[in-house]
Amino acid sequence: MGIWTQAILLSTLSFGALAAPFIETLAHLPRAQVSTVTNMTATQLSDLAPYTEFARAAYCSPSIVQGWACGEACQAVPGFQVSLTGGDGNDIQYYYVGYWPDQNAVVVAHQGTDPTQFVSDLTDATIPMENLNSTLFPGVDSSVMVHSGFANEHAQTAPAILAEVKSLISANNAETVILIGHSLGGALSELECMFMALNLPSSIAIQGVTYGTPRVGNPAWASLFDSKIGNFSRINNEKDIVPIVPGRFLGFSHVQGEVHIVAPDYAVECPGDDDATDSQCTIMTVPNIADGDILNHLGPYQGIYIGSIYCT
Ligand SMILES: *[C@@H]1O[C@H](CO)[C@@H](O)[C@H](O)[C@H]1NC(C)=O
Ligand SMILES: *[C@@H]1O[C@H](CO)[C@@H](O)[C@H](O)[C@H]1NC(C)=O
Ligand SMILES: *[C@@H]1O[C@H](CO)[C@@H](O)[C@H](O)[C@H]1NC(C)=O
Repeated sequence: MGIWTQAILLSTLSFGALAAPFIETLAHLPRAQVSTVTNMTATQLSDLAPYTEFARAAYCSPSIVQGWACGEACQAVPGFQVSLTGGDGNDIQYYYVGYWPDQNAVVVAHQGTDPTQFVSDLTDATIPMENLNSTLFPGVDSSVMVHSGFANEHAQTAPAILAEVKSLISANNAETVILIGHSLGGALSELECMFMALNLPSSIAIQGVTYGTPRVGNPAWASLFDSKIGNFSRINNEKDIVPIVPGRFLGFSHVQGEVHIVAPDYAVECPGDDDATDSQCTIMTVPNIADGDILNHLGPYQGIYIGSIYCT
């Protein structure tokens, strides 16, 4: 190759490799880089809206999610192409998989559950934890333990979802997979982030956005997650109780990525896994269940409510 060809190639490469990601990084800092409690900008907050609508749409019946005709939530993300729906809304939460041309991304979303029953299950004095299934999660150390109920439900839909995700990646040359869910659906999506990271080529970016997520596993789970998933946000609304259960005294730990909506139009990103020292973050806002408000679990997440009755 001639010297001029090389020079042109180099300048094209350096423009592509340096300039574009720099602009992207200014707009969306990867979550792992937050080392101190930080106010979110108005733009960061409004950028969350499509993810919140995806989480909301997961509560809609597959019969109307198929065809992306679920009302307000679906209309809020025009052009999304659903290709797989499943679950029965009872034993298995609803879920859907589709292609989002706007972001050249595959999206997987999981429905959550009734918060009152959920909180009572997650405050049980004995919550069984187990290792991840080594077929689904190859190479994970045996010190890593997660909530048995979450792992079992995730395992039931994981193979079908992975097959669909792979097929959409290859059909569209998609470069990103985004896992989204609220409540129990947030816990399933947290597991799904790791599952995708271990089963897809490393060239695929894994991103997660969850809402009102309970703790999923032990501190070893949190360390593994933080080391593999660089871009994860778990959004907690005001005095929601679900993010403080199961308790840390039962051996559970959150992963990194806390975003706490302190009040409408005022949210902070919190450093670490379980930020217990910043007054604007969840633990100090809701030190125990009696200080919380279960209604905040449903929203509003910047004006958007999520739950069975908000599928209109
Ligand atoms: C992180 O993920 C969010 C949600 O998918 C996305 O909007 C954002 O651009 C990502 N940031 C980076 C640096 O990749
Ligand atoms: C963060 O936002 C709050 C509420 O708008 C404001 O009172 C505070 O001064 C902001 N902090 C910084 C460091 O900008
Ligand atoms: C682990 O997952 C695989 C694949 O879904 C399944 O065949 C196997 O039975 C599971 N193992 C256990 C111990 O549940």
